[in-house]
Amino acid sequence: MADTIVIFGASGDLTSRKLVPALYRLFAKGRLAAGSKIVGVSRSQFEHEQWRESLRTAAEKFVGKFFTAESWEAFSENIFYHAGDIKDQADFKSLATFLDSIETEEHSGRVYYLSTMPQLYEEAIRQLGKAGLADDSKGYRRVIIEKPFGTDLATAQALNHSIHGVFREDQIYRIDHYLGKETVQNIFALRFANSIFEPIWNRNFVDHVQITVAEEVVIGRRAGYYDTSGILRDMFQNHILQLMMITAMEPPARYDSSLVRDEKVKVLHSVRKMVGSDFANNTIRGQYDGYLKEEGVPPKSQTETYAVLKLYCDNWRWKGVPFFLRSGKGMSCRTTQIVIQFKNVPHILFGEKTRTPVGNRLVIQIQPAEGIQLHFETKVPDSEMKTRTSTMDFSFQQASGTELPDAYQRLLLDAIQGDASLFARSDEVELAWGIIDPIIAAWKSPAAPDLFTYPTGLWGPTEASEWMEEQKREWFDVCPVLN
Ligand code: BG6
Repeated sequence: MADTIVIFGASGDLTSRKLVPALYRLFAKGRLAAGSKIVGVSRSQFEHEQWRESLRTAAEKFVGKFFTAESWEAFSENIFYHAGDIKDQADFKSLATFLDSIETEEHSGRVYYLSTMPQLYEEAIRQLGKAGLADDSKGYRRVIIEKPFGTDLATAQALNHSIHGVFREDQIYRIDHYLGKETVQNIFALRFANSIFEPIWNRNFVDHVQITVAEEVVIGRRAGYYDTSGILRDMFQNHILQLMMITAMEPPARYDSSLVRDEKVKVLHSVRKMVGSDFANNTIRGQYDGYLKEEGVPPKSQTETYAVLKLYCDNWRWKGVPFFLRSGKGMSCRTTQIVIQFKNVPHILFGEKTRTPVGNRLVIQIQPAEGIQLHFETKVPDSEMKTRTSTMDFSFQQASGTELPDAYQRLLLDAIQGDASLFARSDEVELAWGIIDPIIAAWKSPAAPDLFTYPTGLWGPTEASEWMEEQKREWFDVCPVLN
């Protein structure tokens, strides 16, 4: 049974850089049903052949050695282009006719991918509804929506409300590309397919959790978007809270989209609301030196490019365990890592005169050196009873022996197959905004904590290290070793 993937905003960068290469790889791996169609929609005028050619050039570049002329030929036969304006109902009517004309009897359903400017999401959804394109009586109809999903709680609620006027929740797939990363999904495996971690994955054994998404890059040419967004909207409301949910959630009864998301949502419900002095004591904001000189950034911009949040989950598993969430642009290196820092031994027998052991640490390297390391104490060979920290190191790349798939492959395939486990549900998105909004408001208020400037190429403001010392903890500022 063939599927149709309709991409709105088809002339954009995401389509040629991520979506079509991901679909091509799925095709080459035999995972797309035979005869599945890809239809690009945007305002530019292209002939089918012209669009195929431009995608081919991009695919050669982004797919790398996986690309072959032969399989591309076979794949691109089913790529089509339909010029259309999101604001024009007639264009949606003609799209409906066009889709009917290319789909055969064996067609099973359609995925609509909204990769347009976010301001057009509501309009696109409304038009799909009016043109009868959401009607799933003849096959499934699903819609994938790219981030950002709203800019605050009110806009996210309004967007959910509009979408629910046309699509049921089970037809809606809100993308957070972090959930498509293999290493993020591997947290489920690590926690729920092993018996040794779960008994210690709680406040009795864990001292704290650090989730860091550090990026070496700065904002480049994205000032228009970034300056109105800032790092809390860009990274925390979505990617970082997703990582926190998966790290902190209870095991679901089954690996099923509603049950998994129920458990994730419970984590957000348990996050302690910040009030009063919490905003000053439990958050840090920073801006990299040079941000104000980036093209398009207002000269006095107060937008954060670095942030730390200290959150607590008030539930039985995590009561009293701080979650340090941190992200920044212009950092020392690119690394996304989750550190589970275990409590130290209750009584130190060895080495107390030379050093205090730091306690066991499980480091989940999400990217770019995908893997897991367990730090533990071992005896220094040929010494009296002295210990040092050693590492057990698992590399995902070496273990799989093949290149790890890009996040969009997994997510597109899941949406086509109707598995929403790795997509954000409406309540999840709204609760996440409910955590982030008050912090953004506090940071804009007269009582906002200082905005620290930090040099690029290091680990953020020095004040963040001093603050961590006051917490009697230490940042895990280690760049991953790439093999
Ligand atoms: C995007 C943000 O959602 O995620 C970007 O808008 C950020 O600012 C990017 O750079 C990071 O994604 P990844 O997959 O490179 O970690």
